[in-house]
Amino acid sequence: TRIEKAGHKHFMSKEIAEQPTVISEALNFYMSEDGGSVVLPDPDIDFTQYDRIVMVACGTAFYACFTAKYWFEQIAKIPVEVDIASEFRYREAPISPRTLAIYVSQSGETADTLAALRYTAGKAASILTVTNSSESSMARESDMSLPILAGVEVGVASTKAFSCQLTVLLMLALKAAQDRGALSDEDVKTQLTHLRSLPGLLNVALEQSDAIANVAAQLAESSDILFLGRGAMYPLALEGALKLKEISYIHAEGYASGELKHGPIALVDQHTPIIVLAPRDKLFEKTVSNMQEVMARGGKVLLISDEQGLKEASDGVWQSIQMPTVPDALAPILYAVPAQLLAYHTAVAKGTDVDQPRNLAKSVTVE
Ligand code: G6P
Repeated sequence: TRIEKAGHKHFMSKEIAEQPTVISEALNFYMSEDGGSVVLPDPDIDFTQYDRIVMVACGTAFYACFTAKYWFEQIAKIPVEVDIASEFRYREAPISPRTLAIYVSQSGETADTLAALRYTAGKAASILTVTNSSESSMARESDMSLPILAGVEVGVASTKAFSCQLTVLLMLALKAAQDRGALSDEDVKTQLTHLRSLPGLLNVALEQSDAIANVAAQLAESSDILFLGRGAMYPLALEGALKLKEISYIHAEGYASGELKHGPIALVDQHTPIIVLAPRDKLFEKTVSNMQEVMARGGKVLLISDEQGLKEASDGVWQSIQMPTVPDALAPILYAVPAQLLAYHTAVAKGTDVDQPRNLAKSVTVE
């Protein structure tokens, strides 16, 4: 079947808008009918068999892995190492036998990720691929493969595949917590109830598209943009910067908020927009204090937070975007939407080829 833009100007905007629907499908697929537990397709994964997890991927899929590290460690109390595939495949990492190796790839065909997967064959206890292509080389060469159910993604810059990867990885972290007794049945159920609310929250976030387009028209004039986040919002800051540079060709970098003073703050002047991804969570005040440091140096802050966060911290910021209030674990998935929309609208304002950015390929099947 031919994939159409369904009234959108670009595939990317269609794919951003599809996220509530495709994520609902992923939730239905992985949740038990009573909504009380996570159910994986055969063969099941028993997380009591592993002492640690290694997660490897490239590009946006790597940032999904990096986000999931926070979830697996905080929710399931299992240590996770993450790496990009082009490094992992050659660095001769020792793999202990009770390791679960997880590979995340939209296409399932990325050359470096496939080579990394082959490196762990026969070393790790099990190899799991999380992919949008169940027929791919990576899926075939794994012990288990989990679909992300995003549907065909045409835009070279990944959007719905990223949020579906995150959704599946969060459910996997809940399954790990369930198996390892790190969460009570009641707590797993609460987390799953939260997940059920995610499509509705994503729809609310999508309503900010016009407000984001207004800010983006001004971002399009910038030559350097910083993204800041703390905790699981740090990997999202990296992804937000990647998305922006991929399609708008504006230089952007993501940093952990707390690392700012160790170098990047030297870049800040009145021409530098700084995008702060900060839901009102337990680390909020720390991020706000980093944000004030950049404002004191003339940096133009765009604060993306919820009602409470904006009430407490929007004094003196250049711009703000309001997100709905969200349970902590879901914030990286929800805040992916404004990060994607900022990149999209900035690229549209600059008139670049949004769906086919220069020098990039959808799937990199050569080294
Ligand atoms: C390419 C794409 C990226 C993608 C990366 C990994 O660089 O342009 O959007 O994140 O490959 O692709 P994969 O199919 O392995 O997820």
